[in-house]
Amino acid sequence: MAASLSYFSGVSLSATEKPSIPSLSTSHNRRVCFSNSSRNKHKHHDCVSLSSRWKPPCTARAIKIVAAAQKEPLKVMIAGAPASGKGTQCELIKNKFGLVHISAGDLLRAEIATGSENGKKAKEFMEKGMLVPNEIVVMMVKERLMKPDVEQNGWLLDGYPRSLSQAMALENLGIRPDIFILLEVSDELLVERVVGRRLDPVTGKIYHLKYSPPENEEIASRLTQRFDDTEEKVKLRLKTHYQNVESVISLYESVLFKVNGDVSKEEVFSEIDKGISAILENKRTVDSASMAAGVAQ
Ligand code: AP5
Repeated sequence: MAASLSYFSGVSLSATEKPSIPSLSTSHNRRVCFSNSSRNKHKHHDCVSLSSRWKPPCTARAIKIVAAAQKEPLKVMIAGAPASGKGTQCELIKNKFGLVHISAGDLLRAEIATGSENGKKAKEFMEKGMLVPNEIVVMMVKERLMKPDVEQNGWLLDGYPRSLSQAMALENLGIRPDIFILLEVSDELLVERVVGRRLDPVTGKIYHLKYSPPENEEIASRLTQRFDDTEEKVKLRLKTHYQNVESVISLYESVLFKVNGDVSKEEVFSEIDKGISAILENKRTVDSASMAAGVAQ
């Protein structure tokens, strides 16, 4: 929505130039703008080419209608201590709500796998359980957030932001979540979860030797363990988490949704599902109301 608003408000309204906004003086034109709203890439072209006459008083109405019709996709952040279940829940959220899952940890591990200088530097910090410097991680996440699939389907940001400075980097871009999910798990459980976690390199699925064991021998034989999944390293990661989490939460207080992560993954998801569904319902109501207001004026 912000993009369409800034596009239209950036249109020159000089007397010598014909503005690109359709007058929307007829029901036909209104229908055209609505019908094209779901296809972002065409909205500029279609609204311009179908504009028949310029009527200045209709500009504001056009902005409202196009903006209202451009429903913003859902934006979700998920945070929690190491092994609190963020990745596990993201899989379930992604499957149900179709959001693009962006995991800062996964982006960093992919960078390490390329053997790049940034990857090597990131690994040094990850091995110490410390946050990777902003100059590496912030740009990575920003770039991913700008991709078209994210704009189209919405995002699910996992493990980012982890510090106030990272959160401020998003604020400066006008990027805010609709909901900030915080998984709360006791420290003893976290250590057990880290030590027993295994990953399937073929499917990317997360397992736990006790809580989510692999389905068969073939999968079991190929499972791998993360280099930072030791008891010693998780204690360092936990310390880093507790040093930073409060400052991040303070910025998202108004959309904070705390979930007890000590229970089974299905029970955790059931709570998350309720929280996200409530937000979606609210967004739908707001979208319909603003659309109705746009048409009525
Ligand atoms: P990252 O990869 O994000 O690791 P993390 O935050 O430590 O979280 P994990 O991936 O370990 O756990 P998770 O919460 O996803 O739990 P999972 O679902 O796998 O980051 C790694 C490192 O990268 C950081 O230490 C840092 O150095 C760097 N980094 C990352 N982001 C950064 C940033 N923004 N800035 C700077 N540096 C950054 O579950 C864990 C286990 O528990 C699994 O085995 C699972 O099967 C099991 N499990 C999950 N839920 C349940 C449940 N309800 N009941 C029983 N078992 C469960």
